[in-house]
Amino acid sequence: MDQLGSILEFLENSSILVTGATGFLAKIFIEKILRVQPDVKKLYLLLRAADDNSAMLRFNTEVIAKDLFRVLKEKHGGNLSCLLSEKVRAVAGDITSENLGVKDPDLLQEMWKQVDVVLHLAATTKFDERYDVALAINTLGARHVLNFSKKCDKLKVFVHVSTAYVSGEKEGLILETPYKLGETLNGTSELDIDAEKKLVDETLKQLSAKNYSEDSIKSAMKDLGIQRARKYGWPNTYVFSKAMGEMLLGHLKQNIPLVIIRPTIVTSTFKDPFPGWVEGVRTIDSLAVGYGKGKITCFLGNPQSIIDVIPADMVVNAIIVAMVAHANQPNEDIIYHIGSSVSSPVEFTWLQDYAFRYFTNHPYIDKHGKPVIVGKVTVLSTMESFQRYMTIHYILPLKGLEILNTTCCQYFQRLYLDLSRKVKLVMRLIDLYGPYLFFNGYYDDMNTEKLRRAAKESGSVEDDMFNFDPKSINWEDYFMNTHIPGIVKYVFK
Ligand SMILES: NC(=O)c1ccc[n+]([C@@H]2O[C@H](COP(=O)([O-])OP(=O)(O)OC[C@H]3O[C@@H](n4cnc5c(N)ncnc54)[C@H](OP(=O)(O)O)[C@@H]3O)[C@@H](O)[C@H]2O)c1
Repeated sequence: MDQLGSILEFLENSSILVTGATGFLAKIFIEKILRVQPDVKKLYLLLRAADDNSAMLRFNTEVIAKDLFRVLKEKHGGNLSCLLSEKVRAVAGDITSENLGVKDPDLLQEMWKQVDVVLHLAATTKFDERYDVALAINTLGARHVLNFSKKCDKLKVFVHVSTAYVSGEKEGLILETPYKLGETLNGTSELDIDAEKKLVDETLKQLSAKNYSEDSIKSAMKDLGIQRARKYGWPNTYVFSKAMGEMLLGHLKQNIPLVIIRPTIVTSTFKDPFPGWVEGVRTIDSLAVGYGKGKITCFLGNPQSIIDVIPADMVVNAIIVAMVAHANQPNEDIIYHIGSSVSSPVEFTWLQDYAFRYFTNHPYIDKHGKPVIVGKVTVLSTMESFQRYMTIHYILPLKGLEILNTTCCQYFQRLYLDLSRKVKLVMRLIDLYGPYLFFNGYYDDMNTEKLRRAAKESGSVEDDMFNFDPKSINWEDYFMNTHIPGIVKYVFK
């Protein structure tokens, strides 16, 4: 890594293509660039839409209209629309197609001439996504984005956002090492991405030939994803398809400067543009929502474990600094873990304590206007204790209800089906999330630390503006005064 120059100057001289522009991290990236460097050359924002007008409509309603952009609106007032029309080009496209599905040949030529940086954020992030969909977006979609980048005459750098969980359920210190094509987590040597694609196509053909309903095909494709992921040692379809995406990029990049960013669990903004902005219910937040609403009274997990979280604005700052640091450096192939488990670890028990204290002081008011009183939760620390808990509290009562329902001529049929569906859902969620709840790994961030140091040491760099050091976070203050209030404001419905 050479000396970093001015980040703002770099941005002033760059046109950036962002995929997945309606996403959580993309919004924070777009806002940051427009706020700190309104003289950026151009932002080409790829969105799924029928045409560029619908793409612009999506940009206005799903991106700019968000509260996240209020600071930018205050800064520019009525001039914001001028800035947007000059600097932003919403592009209708889809990463599952060649040329990213961009149809207008003039626009394609323009992008290939102008784009300096590609930031690839588009993904499907459902853990149990259909295998055909996950493979098309997270694996082969990454290849389409790389192929597009290769056609950009003056490309300086390609930044791909992956996830720290591509490393599976490894224990101990997990290094920032790239994947080789065909590598697996359990040593099986047969992973062949083309063969996976063929398997998907043939399975779909067979299911259609048997006249399966859309719902049955969806469910078969979801099961196939989990089955293939586990065959090679990954816990779910999402991380497996993201790992294969990384493999393709590493293998096919040739002389493209490639940076792979692997964030851990991304939480609400720490500081930028204001603390506590978040969107959508993400992994640990779904627990907080369930707990605050009084629906969760027990947690499953290892009380001794470290939960690796990182605020979203720090992920975006790391992306920007890495972009500048690796521009025009074709020989490096670099991975950055963006997390906190090594530099500033958060203990599982702290989160329990913060949630208890927060919701005791600020109880959620339910739809009848009554405050929900939360208690200390029971922590089930092994899968066995969870099985026992489920058997005593749900599975045995369900069996009893089944017998009663049969003897009472299906009188309790609705109640029985409802309870049975809920128990099945919980068991499926535990099957999917279980590996994370008992996870004992922590993510080495040596490369990230070097990047932080390089940013500090370069006199000309706007170090504070692009902070991504979790050591600068007081976690208690962050969770009690920023993150939990943020999810209450933006996520609780
Ligand atoms: N947020 C986290 O906790 C986290 C943690 C680690 C890693 N990551 C990674 O960071 C990246 C961004 O995550 P996020 O949370 O911001 O994601 P997100 O909010 O789920 O957004 C994903 C974006 O991808 C777009 N997309 C999906 N399929 C597409 C396709 N075929 N063509 C074009 N666009 C498509 C979606 O568009 P539509 O609006 O059309 O659906 C959406 O804009 C992902 O690569 C994810 O794997 C996220």
